[in-house]
Order: sequence, then C-alpha cells, then structure tokens
Amino acid sequence: VSDWWESFFDAQYLDLWGPSFTAEQTAAEADGLWRLLGLAPGSRVIDAPCGQGRLTRVLAERGAEVVGIDQSIDLLATAEAARGGLPTSRLRYRRQDLRQPLTETGFDAAFNVFSSLGYGSEADDLAVFRNLRAAVRDGGLVFFDTAHRDLMAAKLARGLTNTDVLPDGTLCVERVKLDPVAGRVESTWHWAGPAGTGKKVGSLRVYTITELVRLLAQAGLELVSLHRGCSTDPFVAEGPMVGGRVGLLTRR
Ligand SMILES: C[S@@+](CC[C@H](N)C(=O)[O-])C[C@H]1O[C@@H](n2cnc3c(N)ncnc32)[C@H](O)[C@@H]1O
Repeated sequence: VSDWWESFFDAQYLDLWGPSFTAEQTAAEADGLWRLLGLAPGSRVIDAPCGQGRLTRVLAERGAEVVGIDQSIDLLATAEAARGGLPTSRLRYRRQDLRQPLTETGFDAAFNVFSSLGYGSEADDLAVFRNLRAAVRDGGLVFFDTAHRDLMAAKLARGLTNTDVLPDGTLCVERVKLDPVAGRVESTWHWAGPAGTGKKVGSLRVYTITELVRLLAQAGLELVSLHRGCSTDPFVAEGPMVGGRVGLLTRR
C-alpha cells in the first residue's frame, strides 16, 4: 500500500495550491531562512522536501549552493523547468524518499518547511529528522516550519476552514476532522470550477510543540530557538491563533 502523499503532490496540487504562493511571500520566507540559517554565498544547503523548488531557487539565486530533494516527479519537473540560468553547481534537484539516508553529507544547513512533516507515522518523521541531521556537518543548523496542535485547535474552535477562489474561478474548500487519539487531522479538499469538480484527501499528524521538540531531540537535534514561521521573529504562543505557524531552529 502506498502512502497518500506519494500521489497527492501531482499536477492537480500545483493547479490548486500553486496560485496561493505569491512571489512576495516566497521572497520573505527565503529571506527569513537566509538569516535564520546564517547563510552566505557558497553556503551548502538542503531544501527537503523542496516541492516545486520555490525556495530552493531563490536561495540559489542569492548565492547559496542548494540541493532540493523531493519524491514528487511532477513537482521536481516544475522545479527543474524554472531553474533559469542557474548552473548545477548552485542548484540541483534530486528525487528521493527522505526516509532513506541522503547520499551527500557535510552541508552547512538544511530546512523542511511549509508543513512537510507528519504525513506518515512518527517513525517516518523520526527517520526524516535523523537523515537531515546526518546530512549536515557538526554544529550545522536544521530548520522546520509547520502548523501545530494548538493552532489547529484554535482554528477548529472557530469553525475555520480554508476556502479559496482560484484565478480561473474554481472554488476550493477544505473540510477537517481531528482524531484526538492519533493527534491527526484528516482533511478533504473539494473543488468545483470551469475545469470540473474533484476532491483530494490527506492526513496529517499535528504535533504539539512539546512533542515535536521531543522527537527532534530523539533524532539528535537540539532546539536553538522558536520563531514565527520562517521569520526571525520569536514565536509567542498568544493571540487567537496561539502564535500561528511555528519555526523550530535546531542544531546538530
Ligand atoms: C506541502 S509540500 C511543501 C514543499 C516545499 N517545502 C514548499 O515550501 O513549497 C510537501 C512536499 O513534501 C514532499 N514529501 C513528503 N514526504 C516526503 C518524503 N518522505 N520524501 C520526499 N518527499 C516528501 C511531497 O512530495 C511534497 O512535495
């Protein structure tokens, strides 16, 4: 049996979610990562999973040597097609399941962002964390950005579901159910528009920050600081969204 996420990130994903990434948002996230990870031209960085390479490319344009890793054939093809004039010495993409050890090591930093964990079991996440740790040098930084349980509970408490109108008028609505025992959110996205109707389902283990820090420690990654998503701002668990997305900066 293959995992849901192995087929989820396809051309349809790009149609549905692609338009929601603005160049400004991606530039701001890339700038946050640049500062958080202390990057400089020539720094060796892993973006894993890299998806369609939106951050990989921006960091490479800024002078880092970036390797983007993902399992999705469609997203990697999109990333490769958008490389522009960047040489492979600065930007490379590689198709791999991150639960398997990476073949290259000695990187200065690695990052895993935009809720790219919790798709499978905790053992799967632990394997990914260990593999990212093993790929960076001693003292190397590894950064994660994700939603968390308190944020999800705050959204559920307000009955908030994500609804989106795409540029072609397609309406996309997300329905979520929280399994309190498994700590997983089961999501169904329904869409209808000029190109037809359809649905996609996914399942996310949504950790509390406590659980996440514990799992990272188990993988040998020591917490350095918490941030508001991919920004250098500190994470503060307050407000209607209990701080919003969390960024965890860790060190090998
Ligand atoms: C929500 S996307 C985010 C991509 C990218 N980080 C970004 O910010 O746009 C999640 C990605 O994780 C990838 N992914 C999830 N689990 C993976 C695994 N075990 N090995 C490789 N890729 C994985 C999926 O293929 C998908 O492209």
